[in-house]
Amino acid sequence: MGTVVLGTGSCLPRRVVTNVEMESIVDTNDEWIRSRTGIAERRYGGKGELNYQLSAMAGKRALDAAGVSAEELGLIVLGTVSPHMLMPSTACFVQAELGAKNAFAYDLNAACSGFLYGLDLADKYIRANPEMKVLIIGAETLSSRLDYTDRNTCILFGDGAGAAVFGAAEDGRGIQATDMHADGQLWELLHMHGPESSNPDLRVESSTGPFVRMQGKEVFKYAVKAMAGSINAVLASRQLQIADVDLLVPHQANIRILNNLKKRLGIAEERVFINLPKYGNTSAASVPIALDEAHREGRMKKGDTVLLCSFGGGFTWGAVLLIW
Ligand code: ACO
Repeated sequence: MGTVVLGTGSCLPRRVVTNVEMESIVDTNDEWIRSRTGIAERRYGGKGELNYQLSAMAGKRALDAAGVSAEELGLIVLGTVSPHMLMPSTACFVQAELGAKNAFAYDLNAACSGFLYGLDLADKYIRANPEMKVLIIGAETLSSRLDYTDRNTCILFGDGAGAAVFGAAEDGRGIQATDMHADGQLWELLHMHGPESSNPDLRVESSTGPFVRMQGKEVFKYAVKAMAGSINAVLASRQLQIADVDLLVPHQANIRILNNLKKRLGIAEERVFINLPKYGNTSAASVPIALDEAHREGRMKKGDTVLLCSFGGGFTWGAVLLIW
């Protein structure tokens, strides 16, 4: 029995924010952003495009693609670091919006690795109960959590949601191996404080406000090494080589991280899916949006070996190997 992707979906906000528009917000320029990050534009949510609304639309598209009804879902897991509220979970808002009345639902915070952590969970739930259909969503409205005076971070991130429906199959396809990690000692290199505590004794020291903060060079170094390590681990666990991989769908962090990763792995350019120039870094949404686009563009066919990998705040990272 294997856990397979039954359908994928995504939803991007309508508003396109180009690098030229970023020039009017912060001291930066199109040439710097393109050459240092590979990003040309990103999307920012507007009215009717709250996190749960983007998520529900991505989820609905994934359900439609899978031919699965909302009532058939047993579980909804939503990876995000920009939830609609702290309570209830954004997943519960999505459950209500979709009418998935038989599903239990919760959020998961693994930053950019949220979708991969969710996928690992889906695999475990479905192995325990092969009848179960699971919706995993990665979604962010990070434009609400950026410091627009900090040019190191605000140019990188964008909003969006991606989703996939998982179920069981008995034809040898599905998730073959997962490799998940975290290192909480490195939290400070990429973090975001929450709202201030009303109990002064529980106040968390922060001079930086509730915004994304990052030490770019350090993140860069760890990201490449960690993702390559996880990819090699899942390949080795199935006695496969990088040449056996038909498509790598990586977290869309930064073009230089992706170029370094390609070089370190020795994977051919055409076997790596990249849509970063259009959306920037959408954190937990990045892998599922890329997976949906790759699928809709016909980049993978039944039986292909597909690799997913991610790295994000925590630090968290991992890789998943699946037969499509
Ligand atoms: N526009 C113009 N100039 C800028 C900008 C900007 N947006 N940001 C920084 N600069 C300037 C700096 O002030 C510095 O100027 P100085 O030399 O006068 O001091 C110069 O550019 C070089 O700055 P560096 O920080 O050394 O730039 P670097 O080449 O390291 O690029 C970047 C910065 C893009 C953040 C890089 O470190 C990086 O790619 N890091 C990876 C982090 C990342 O992608 N994080 C994504 C989130 S985590 C994840 O998803 C894995």
